[in-house]
Amino acid sequence: MSTIIIDGKALAQNIRHDVANRVSALKEKGITACLAVIILGDDPASQSYVRGKEKACGDVGILSRDYKLSSTTSEEELVLLIEELNRDESVHGILVQLPLPKHINESTIIETIDPNKDVDGFHPNSLGKLMLGQDTFIPCTPHGVIKMLESVDISTEGKNIVIIGRSHIVGSPLSQLLIQKTPTGNATVTICHSRTKNLSDFTKRADIIIAAVGVPQMLTSDMVSDGVVIIDVGVNRVEDSTKAKGYRLVGDVDFEGMLNKASVLTPVPGGVGPMTITMLLFNTIKSAEITFDRR
Ligand code: GUN
Repeated sequence: MSTIIIDGKALAQNIRHDVANRVSALKEKGITACLAVIILGDDPASQSYVRGKEKACGDVGILSRDYKLSSTTSEEELVLLIEELNRDESVHGILVQLPLPKHINESTIIETIDPNKDVDGFHPNSLGKLMLGQDTFIPCTPHGVIKMLESVDISTEGKNIVIIGRSHIVGSPLSQLLIQKTPTGNATVTICHSRTKNLSDFTKRADIIIAAVGVPQMLTSDMVSDGVVIIDVGVNRVEDSTKAKGYRLVGDVDFEGMLNKASVLTPVPGGVGPMTITMLLFNTIKSAEITFDRR
């Protein structure tokens, strides 16, 4: 079986084109969509994500306001900054890069963000609406995964979908999207995680597998059935002395091993990653448009 590789970059480009048009249209009405990005400390992976977000904003005409703070910033200071950005009418989206330093309570910070500016979709208000099937900001990676499945016309209805990973950012919200009574839902979803026994028993029965655990190349070809659709959300740095940076990026899936076994596969890098950032741009223009409509 020849495997279709979904080009996340190309798909992201198409959606970004639409976002850019919406950003221009809103600019003509006098509003420049603006995303505030807050990052604490100097974790290389987080910094690299944030650079990617800033560049993507620039490419579609969204203003990105960056707050690069020390890892010793207190929770109180961070709360005050978010409250200021909540009040600032020129800011349409607020993103706090996770993970945060250990002395800061992540829930406190996420709950400080105005739900109307919660472009990550992590606020309990947003996640509650998502669960109820109400319109809200859909978390970016789950939304990107749905768009990828749509792009290759894969119907989820009645399919057995196994999600590996139960994070609040990916696995949990994605499971909600996939069980809803919508054209991209109606699936039978199983969430597997670190305490799942005999993972292969589940993955072998899956029509679609979404791997989001953060363990390099853990899903191997002996664990899946012929023709399975695999979306690889993992982004893992593994040491590689042949690379100038000393590492390379691999997913949670053994990509090479899946070729000619999976019917559809996503690469890392160039798969889900560009889609996540694109859906962040999508949420930011959506927020700016709602602000305009409310005026
Ligand atoms: N850290 C890893 N992924 C994400 C994300 O999608 N949003 C934020 N804010 N932090 C992250």
